[in-house]
Amino acid sequence: MGRNYRIGVIKGDGIGSEIVDEAIKVLDALSANMGFNLEYCEMLLGGSAIDETGVPLPEETINGVKRCDAVLFGAIGGPKWDNLERHLRPESGLLGLRKEMGTFANLRPAIVYDELVNASTLKPSVIKGVDIMVVRELTGGIYFGEPRELLKDRAYNTMVYSKSEVERIARVAFDIAMKRTKRVCSVDKANVLEVSQFWRDTVIEVSKDYPEVELTHMYVDNASMQLIREPKQFDVILTGNIFGDILSDAASMLSGSIGLLPSASIGEGVGLYEPIHGSAPDIAGQGIANPLATISSASMMLKYALGEDEASKKIDNAIKKSLAMGYRTADLSAYDAKEICSSSEIGDIIANFVSK
Ligand code: IPM
Ligand code: MN
Repeated sequence: MGRNYRIGVIKGDGIGSEIVDEAIKVLDALSANMGFNLEYCEMLLGGSAIDETGVPLPEETINGVKRCDAVLFGAIGGPKWDNLERHLRPESGLLGLRKEMGTFANLRPAIVYDELVNASTLKPSVIKGVDIMVVRELTGGIYFGEPRELLKDRAYNTMVYSKSEVERIARVAFDIAMKRTKRVCSVDKANVLEVSQFWRDTVIEVSKDYPEVELTHMYVDNASMQLIREPKQFDVILTGNIFGDILSDAASMLSGSIGLLPSASIGEGVGLYEPIHGSAPDIAGQGIANPLATISSASMMLKYALGEDEASKKIDNAIKKSLAMGYRTADLSAYDAKEICSSSEIGDIIANFVSK
């Protein structure tokens, strides 16, 4: 009997279905020759869920994901739903799902592929060899803090972190660092915010359990500058929800395109694997979106959720090979491209490589 896994699939909105379809194509090509079976279970989230059920996070999705071994997710949102009340918007669905699933740790690797060292707006000497892991806290901080309110003459949100929330995300970062070059840079705004001072003090406490890991601290404004100035100084970046959101978008441009960066959201149970980019409504339906971030997220899913490390490596190698051979989607067309490909052509190429 082969290994059987149940994969939740949430395509979402915009380019979501185009990119998730390519990741599934690759997973199917892999499972055929790696001795495991994948069963897919499609679920609704975001705008498409609003259109069909009236809410961005239907009950069936909340219950459905719990029955899966892992969930592969595309992207949500779009102008069509921008004017809805905040709690009914697609983004609220995603935030609610992360909270429901307890996926408090969002791992966002920013790797510069040698093949794309000319693709960044930064100098090759600055970015060659960059390999950063942003560990973003995902179910707390200002995204979820209460009280929050939008009034006529003022509005407010609350940035709040409890000790246990900081401790558990810090442990994730230190554990990851132990498998890398053993350096953690915790990013906060402790010169201004109480919550950041608390974050910093708590991270220092946790670090005592990891004497081998070198811990540094950086203010978020400086960190955003350092990421562009000298990105190779970073190994693991540990940070809160909103700072991590911003820094990971910035870090993505080291790699050349936001269409390349995957992520794994893990924590209490089932994990959510998603590209860091959005639903790109401007190019939706054209078949030109870069599916590599989602294919790479599927690779993280194989590794972190299913323990299928060999299959995961096959995907990573196939991505590198496709880039080395000059296959590019439009976002990367200006860089050493030998052939400009559609989303589905890239999916075919990667599927073909992994099935060998
Ligand atoms: C991300 C996205 C989301 C976030 C949005 C869509 C709610 O930007 O995954 O980075 O801010 O977390
Ligand atoms: Mn974001």
